[in-house]
Amino acid sequence: MTRKTAAITAIGGFVPEFVLTNDALAQMVETSDEWITTRTGIKERRLLKPMSLGTSYMAIAAAKELIQKKNLNPIDIDLVIVCTATPDMPVSSTAAFVATEIGASNAFGYDLQGACSGFLFGMSAAAAHISSGRYHKVLLIGADTMSSIIDYSDRTTCVIFGDGAGAVLFEPNDEGLGLQDEVLRVDGKGRDYLNVKAGGAIQPASIHTINNKAHFLHQEGKSVFKFAVSNMTAAATQLLEQNNLSTYDIDYVVAHQANKRILDSIAKNLDLTSKQMLINIERYGNTTAATLPLLLWDYENKLKKNQKLLFTAFGGGFTWGATYLTWAYNS
Ligand code: UT7
Repeated sequence: MTRKTAAITAIGGFVPEFVLTNDALAQMVETSDEWITTRTGIKERRLLKPMSLGTSYMAIAAAKELIQKKNLNPIDIDLVIVCTATPDMPVSSTAAFVATEIGASNAFGYDLQGACSGFLFGMSAAAAHISSGRYHKVLLIGADTMSSIIDYSDRTTCVIFGDGAGAVLFEPNDEGLGLQDEVLRVDGKGRDYLNVKAGGAIQPASIHTINNKAHFLHQEGKSVFKFAVSNMTAAATQLLEQNNLSTYDIDYVVAHQANKRILDSIAKNLDLTSKQMLINIERYGNTTAATLPLLLWDYENKLKKNQKLLFTAFGGGFTWGATYLTWAYNS
């Protein structure tokens, strides 16, 4: 008997028009194209202008592209999940707004906050909803307006991040293709290393939080780098082992784009070739929950039915993991 799996059946994406180059950043803070390129692999990133359009603007654009490409009637969508660390507002659900704006009037929806692992965790949620048998079309979006929480006078964070959104559709698959297995983890001790301290219950907005720049993203880059490499390597290794796979069996690795040197270290640890690694960090930087779907968006033409994909991500919390998915269509 064939298993009912949840497969990705369509992709959409959106990046803002405004390009912030390394040279432009070097006019804003003490840095250089050479430093950013060699230490991160990033050449440019996109910024949402005006920022007040909100994360939903990019999520809606990505979803609309998917709907148009797939010739999908939005009233058939059952569920909209928006993975984001930068929702339009702290309380009102961004997913609710997105669902309504795209015409998904029969859907429910929610936001999922897993920082840079948001989309990976969202894949787990989307697949579980499908496998329950109650939902048949789940729209999973990863979208972040990182420019809304970046201090553009802090060279240790502003060079890395960018804005963008990607969307995928999950549907049941009769051939057993789609999400096969996952190793997902969290470690709350990590929140000292990567956070936005204010604007939540611990430190509501005040004149002090503003003066202390506590609404901006803070990260201890070197420590986060090490945790990212070791934890993504460990999760991917465990996932491969429990599925009797070696890295040679994997067609493509869809890894969170935080720093090209992190990607190189993971490839080295897992004995992966550069051909297996999907990379677009040089053009978008780190778009947090959007990096994984934006990779799928950029490389959709390369992906073929039955190919084996290894996803991995690491982010604030800490959150991380690895997911094994087989591709379900030829575009
Ligand atoms: O998405 C998940 C979360 N984030 C990540 O995964 C990011 C992980 N971390 C990183 O990508 C890297 O740690 C960074 C790119 C943030 C920093 O690179 P690094 O090689 O770890 O640099 P560092 O923090 O060890 O700093 C080395 C030097 C320092 O100068 P001194 O103290 O040696 O004189 C920094 O002040 O580089 C300096 N520096 C810079 N110089 C020019 C830091 N940022 C910059 C910059 N331009 N933008």
